[in-house]
Amino acid sequence: MRAQPLPDFVTADADLAGRTTLALPGRAAYLAEISSSRQLRQLAGSLPPRRFVLGGGSNVVLSGDFDGLLLHMAIAGRELVGEDAEAWYVRAGAGENWHRLVLWTLANGWPGLENLALIPGTVGAAPIQNIGAYGLEIADRFLSLEAFDMDRGTSLQLAHAACRFAYRDSVFKQQGWHLDARRVVTSVTFRLPKEWQALTAYADLAAELDRRQLSRPDARQVADAVIAVRRRKLPDPAMLPNAGSFFQNPVVSAEVGERLRRSCPDLPCYAQPDGRLKIAAGWLIEQSGWKGRNLGRVGMYERQALVLVNRGSALGTEVMALARAVQDAVRQRFAVELTPEPVIL
Ligand code: EPU
Repeated sequence: MRAQPLPDFVTADADLAGRTTLALPGRAAYLAEISSSRQLRQLAGSLPPRRFVLGGGSNVVLSGDFDGLLLHMAIAGRELVGEDAEAWYVRAGAGENWHRLVLWTLANGWPGLENLALIPGTVGAAPIQNIGAYGLEIADRFLSLEAFDMDRGTSLQLAHAACRFAYRDSVFKQQGWHLDARRVVTSVTFRLPKEWQALTAYADLAAELDRRQLSRPDARQVADAVIAVRRRKLPDPAMLPNAGSFFQNPVVSAEVGERLRRSCPDLPCYAQPDGRLKIAAGWLIEQSGWKGRNLGRVGMYERQALVLVNRGSALGTEVMALARAVQDAVRQRFAVELTPEPVIL
């Protein structure tokens, strides 16, 4: 970074303990606490080559120390910015907690985000990997976002089409903007249609609503059911550090899908609009013998094999060793490649 002194919101040699939900140790050469776009503008002219944007830390693996600048996004604010006959429009700052935003919209009577309740992380991180759960993706409720272009030192707006959303993917990942913080999301605006219908087709969610004898649930009841399912299957990072699904569900060609289905008729898979097949990585990992199995201080969770957990004071290198062991096992057994979902720093 430029010669001293550093702006007062930048710390040198910052401890990253407690900054990521996998609870891995590490230090950053610089850590900036960003609570407004103005601070991004201030930094734009003096950036080191290595940068990364940190939200809630729920989708990163610290493989060691980070020899660059981490931008911790803390831009706050949630507001109803518009309403017409069709929808409510809600804008939230990138640093807002995702789950609290979902609860706040529901409390205000604006349904639409309920299936995404309890997803860890921040609003600014949500569009980067197009977070999704229980039959809904953020792309389905997205209007636009504001980002800051760190090279040009200017703000820009990206509408839905420009974000090029796909399964766990967006233009940020496609262009690598998320890796070197070239474009940093500062706020996101959601479109919540007034014509609302509960999305209850996802098997786990349908079963939970059945159990609660709710045949016509309202949005809050859907959120409660989603929360219950997630609590049952996914470990709370505060109790057992983890980064949610550690691998993406592989999307394979129709031919590969056919081959797999012939040899494993039980393989859970979902047809994609383009004819390809999304297959359940958790199932592949379980069948490869890794569900509930540990390697040193890390392991694959016993109730959801797709979740890698830190069972106590593990290092990033141990996480990566387990990830490789699981990838090798699945490759050997099924000839399918697993891609980590979190960013490896
Ligand atoms: N399965 C197994 N064994 C396992 C885990 C899953 O056989 O250990 C099978 C299940 O029985 C089911 C299928 O795999 O038939 C899918 O499992 P599940 O419904 O638990 O969902 P997932 O595909 O493993 C995805 C998301 C989750 C999201 C859930 C619910 C990805 C990478 N993960 O998991 O997202 O909560 O669907 O919609 O797409 C996250 O991204 O961090 C995350 C938790």
